[in-house]
Amino acid sequence: MAVLTVGSTQQLHGEVNVPGDKSISHRAVMLAALARGRSKIMNFLMSDDCLRTAACIRNMGIDIELDHDTVWVAGKGLDGLSEPEDVLYAGNSGTTIRLLSGILAGQEFTSVITGDASLRRRPMGRITKPLQLMGARIIGRQSGSLAPLAIEGGSLRPITYRTPTASAQVKSAVLLAGLFCEGWTEVIEPARSRDHTELMLKAFGVPVEVEGLSVRVKGRHEFKACELAVPGDLSSAAFLMVAACMVPDARVVIRSVGLNPTRSGIIDILKSMGARIAVVNLRESMGEPVGDVIVESSRLSGTAISGELVVRAIDEIPVVAVAAAAAEGTTEIRDAEELKVKESNRIAAVAGELGKMGAAVHELPDGLRIVGGKPLMGAEVDSHHDHRIALALAVMGLAAKGKTRIMGAECLAVSYPAFPEALARLGGEGIEYIQGP
Ligand code: S3P
Repeated sequence: MAVLTVGSTQQLHGEVNVPGDKSISHRAVMLAALARGRSKIMNFLMSDDCLRTAACIRNMGIDIELDHDTVWVAGKGLDGLSEPEDVLYAGNSGTTIRLLSGILAGQEFTSVITGDASLRRRPMGRITKPLQLMGARIIGRQSGSLAPLAIEGGSLRPITYRTPTASAQVKSAVLLAGLFCEGWTEVIEPARSRDHTELMLKAFGVPVEVEGLSVRVKGRHEFKACELAVPGDLSSAAFLMVAACMVPDARVVIRSVGLNPTRSGIIDILKSMGARIAVVNLRESMGEPVGDVIVESSRLSGTAISGELVVRAIDEIPVVAVAAAAAEGTTEIRDAEELKVKESNRIAAVAGELGKMGAAVHELPDGLRIVGGKPLMGAEVDSHHDHRIALALAVMGLAAKGKTRIMGAECLAVSYPAFPEALARLGGEGIEYIQGP
């Protein structure tokens, strides 16, 4: 087990590039595999989750070369995947298993996909149901609601599917399956989830129509390889943003961050809390907005977060809770039940671990209430094998008195393996990452 130690920090200064966006890196490898020809993906996130996707795609006969953060994928077209010889392993990655299941549902072969203990507890019925409606035969534990999933695909029919909760993984699974059937497949969401799949399909030249909360994709459209530059991950940048807000003397510039409006809720939330945060150098890369984010030490105050804002900041809620613990006043986060079925139960994990450090965090049935301004103390805390919990606790450690030891810190490798180095370079005190046996 790895342990990350973080000390109380007074200053954070400098410029940093965060690693490539996790959601976009997964999609880039998947779509490049279905394109015809050799695609080049730059600034790919070399983390456990995205490498799981690459390994699964390789196991279906696609040549993938990795060189630092550049990936070349030798796509063989829509019908170019071959039957994997063994079980596909998605590790901790919900995006890998859910999006790939959509692609597997479109194949004429049989495949089995599974993941680690956390992933095998996460709900899969939300994707197996629509994929079964499209004609795929899928078997999984508890009537197809838990992995491992065995998928016998092929001969799909297009559907119009109304998702019960806003989920980009569900939307994407259905749209990717839609690539393999004649006609238009449509997904209608209750609120707009991240739209990277739609944007990337368009970038590859696939016919996609977006109207309000509906997205439609035209199937059986062959597309060609292309060159993709993955923006920096706003979800990783969020940890540095909150760190800069909380440390008494800080100015941090985060370069080339993806600022897709379906993801940028964290910036709106921090602004509503009084953060000194500015976005400069706005530009576009493959339909995705990108910019540099400047954050300075801020006096934060409590806020209320619910509805669509939660969807636009779903992965950032743990670090928002950290900001709220250091803020004046109360913060209430509602409509966030989805947090219970992430890599860990993030409502329980945040309440339990932040509580150990002196924060007043109360669990609500659909969120959290945090009474800010309590003195924060370094403590021994647990990652719950969840990268975003480990990262949030590290940020909390900067603002706490004494040392914070985060047990189970190896999960940082899921999305931000270089986080301890980045924090130390900016001036984080007492940063030590010790890889256990
Ligand atoms: C993701 C979608 C979100 C998010 C996850 C990545 C994606 O999950 O929490 O970290 O890449 O599509 P849901 O689709 O379950 O909301």
